[in-house]
Amino acid sequence: MVKPKKPNLSLKLGNLDLKNPVMVASGTFGYAEEFKDLIDLKKLGAIVTKTITLRARQGNLPPRTCETPAGMLNSIGLENPGINKFIQEKLPFLKKLGIPVIISIAAEETPDEFATLVRKLDQFPEVSAIELNISCPNLQKDKLISQDAKATLELVSAVRKLTEKCIIIKLSPNVTSITEIALAAQSAGADAVALINTLGGMSIDVNKRIPKLGAWVGGLSGPAIRPIAVKMVWEVYNKIKIPIIGMGGIMDTKSALEFFIAGATAVSVGTANFINPQVSLEIIAGLQKYMLDNNMQNLSQLTGRLKACKD
Ligand SMILES: Cc1cc2nc3c(=O)[nH]c(=O)nc-3n(C[C@H](O)[C@H](O)[C@H](O)COP(=O)(O)O)c2cc1C
Repeated sequence: MVKPKKPNLSLKLGNLDLKNPVMVASGTFGYAEEFKDLIDLKKLGAIVTKTITLRARQGNLPPRTCETPAGMLNSIGLENPGINKFIQEKLPFLKKLGIPVIISIAAEETPDEFATLVRKLDQFPEVSAIELNISCPNLQKDKLISQDAKATLELVSAVRKLTEKCIIIKLSPNVTSITEIALAAQSAGADAVALINTLGGMSIDVNKRIPKLGAWVGGLSGPAIRPIAVKMVWEVYNKIKIPIIGMGGIMDTKSALEFFIAGATAVSVGTANFINPQVSLEIIAGLQKYMLDNNMQNLSQLTGRLKACKD
């Protein structure tokens, strides 16, 4: 009997090659070093760092997380050491890993901070890609860049001129039309979009009659948001040509598969890392098995292959 060929899990995001399509989502995996004794980091498709800003940030008041019926609320508020300390203290470990490293960045005050951050990161060959977090719900802003197609277009166009590195735009679900924002990112030259960031949420301690989070409101993640995320991936897939990195409540292989079938080229695992740090590796193995069982040789036979009706 001929042994079936092992499926090829590799993919491209712009000029970036990934050996497999499973990465860890920003803010749920620190700067990877924190997980070095819990998982074989080299097996991941890529690592996306906690979002970095120009200056160090202490983040929001505690409590910064709380449990909800099917996920968690967080209001971390982009705590990070700032770009210079990140480069000195965190990047050397990431460089040694030998897997693609995607650096997530955000502006605190003005969009030009993105340009300064990109100029700094562009000098480092170990930075494989840059993810623009234009969708953090925990900065107490009236409006996010990712809630405005024109602002998204202007920002991505400006950043595109500064680097040849793969640029990924992280989108917010807290919008009327996520496809409009994804189209703006694409036309400005983004290499990929990542969706979704967390959904705005609030939880109240009824005995004390106080908000459960120190910042009062936060971002909801985990299984509760999965159907919303899958729908958004499917909607965006039907409108854009650049790859989609899908995320939102991926807990296992089955939930990751929903994203691929809806149109994702790659997936990111977030909240599930707090429950099971090995989960991404289990998903890589599960994906390989699913593709083998379904006679799929490569990811293009899986991405966006949603059927119109039962057959
Ligand atoms: C504790 C926590 C911190 C997060 N921090 C960031 C962040 O710094 N930057 C970012 O782009 N997304 C951040 N996110 C959002 C995740 O990257 C992801 O988009 C979201 O949680 C949905 O995926 P999930 O349901 O698998 O967690 C954070 C999420 C959580 C739960």
